Amino acid sequence: MLDTDACGLHQIVKEFAVSKTSDFSDSQPVAASEIVEFEEPVKELLEAFRTQNKLLEPFSEPIYWTKALNPIKEDFLARLERIFKNHHYSNFGEEHQELELKLRDYLGVKTCILVNNATIGLMLALKAAEKLSEVKSKKVITTAFTFPATVQAIKFLGFEPVFADICPFSLCLDPENVERTIKKYGVPLAALPVHVFGNVCDLEAFNYLKQKYGFVLIYDAAHVFGTKVKGHGIGCFGDISVFSLHATKILHSAEGGILTSDSVDYETLHILRNNGFAGVDLVKGLGINAKLSEINCALGLSIFPLIDEAIKKRKKLYELYQAILKPVDFLEPLLRVSSDVSPSYMYCPYALSSKSGISREALIERLKKYKVVIRRYFYPLLSKVNCYLDAAGADELPVSEDIVQRSFVLPLNSYMEIDDVVKICELLKLELTALRSGVTARQAVINPDI
Ligand SMILES: Cc1ncc(COP(=O)(O)O)c(C=O)c1O
Repeated sequence: MLDTDACGLHQIVKEFAVSKTSDFSDSQPVAASEIVEFEEPVKELLEAFRTQNKLLEPFSEPIYWTKALNPIKEDFLARLERIFKNHHYSNFGEEHQELELKLRDYLGVKTCILVNNATIGLMLALKAAEKLSEVKSKKVITTAFTFPATVQAIKFLGFEPVFADICPFSLCLDPENVERTIKKYGVPLAALPVHVFGNVCDLEAFNYLKQKYGFVLIYDAAHVFGTKVKGHGIGCFGDISVFSLHATKILHSAEGGILTSDSVDYETLHILRNNGFAGVDLVKGLGINAKLSEINCALGLSIFPLIDEAIKKRKKLYELYQAILKPVDFLEPLLRVSSDVSPSYMYCPYALSSKSGISREALIERLKKYKVVIRRYFYPLLSKVNCYLDAAGADELPVSEDIVQRSFVLPLNSYMEIDDVVKICELLKLELTALRSGVTARQAVINPDI
């Protein structure tokens, strides 16, 4: 028989009562009023787990850290019919035009350009930087705590990545460290900070550095579609922002990307994605084929009406995770934004604290038994990967090296329900206790003194 006391299930209800009155710090986007909403359903779920002895049973299907949204089927099929009828599969047809305009309005930006993925989008942004930058240099300052695409784009174009360290709080590139790096390695052509996990870079500090040194500021915004700063979309900061529309993202078109800007004009970026063409038989400069097909755009349009609800649902689930896991020793939430930022809850990132003595890899393996797939992110750190080992700054990243060893993302997607989150949290708590005591989960359940 499952001993619920040992699992701490009964504790959660008490913790919810506490969290109702907790003074959540400015950096944790959880509103106490919203936590109250969960109290009754969570009580019922805890009771069900207790009476049916269900906690240690694996989920019927694996629960991944993300799950792609399906489109509104009838809308998608109708759009496909229209494409078939028009025989218009690429080159900025009706679907493309509609999606680009919708995104421009949604993101609240002057220039919005669709491309075939964010990796190519970053390359186009860097190519534009060559024209725009006041600085003649091959160097681009960036972070090693990112998806390979960020640094690959730099290297693929023959530019030189220079690594600066991240801020231990936001996990985004640290502007002070960037300035120190500039003093050591010279002023770069561009800086390429990443809004990591939905956290927002220090926008003011980067703007200050951009003015002071004259480099082009490109944000890798792959993770932050739907994030708002003071109610405004995040794509208007710096010179260019690059969003991903990959299937793992909240809004997706299977593959795809968006370039946004408030200062760079549409034509400059359009030429770059359109093999240099500015119009029929009018080749104006260097470009590449980065066009997004009509079918991809149709998919994006058929998902677009779902995203506001999807963000609301993710917010609820994220807040539930945060409320349940808040009092758990040795766990640190990594989504940390100030009160003027509303995140899109793309990820649910956590880290084991440095003092936990618990192996993250062991935790990942243990949760797999229940079909709960938590994953390391941005692992390995890019400064440790062969082709970037000799990049300037690669061996001066203590904060990045520390965080990449301890962090992971928990399952979060809009197809999950409250009981999934409650169960995942309980399994996580149980396995943390068991791992600290060097026993199995079942032993931890049986022996309440552990
Ligand atoms: C931070 C970051 N930058 C860039 C990319 C590349 O995006 P895409 O798959 O659209 O090329 C990703 C992909 O997830 C990412 O996480």
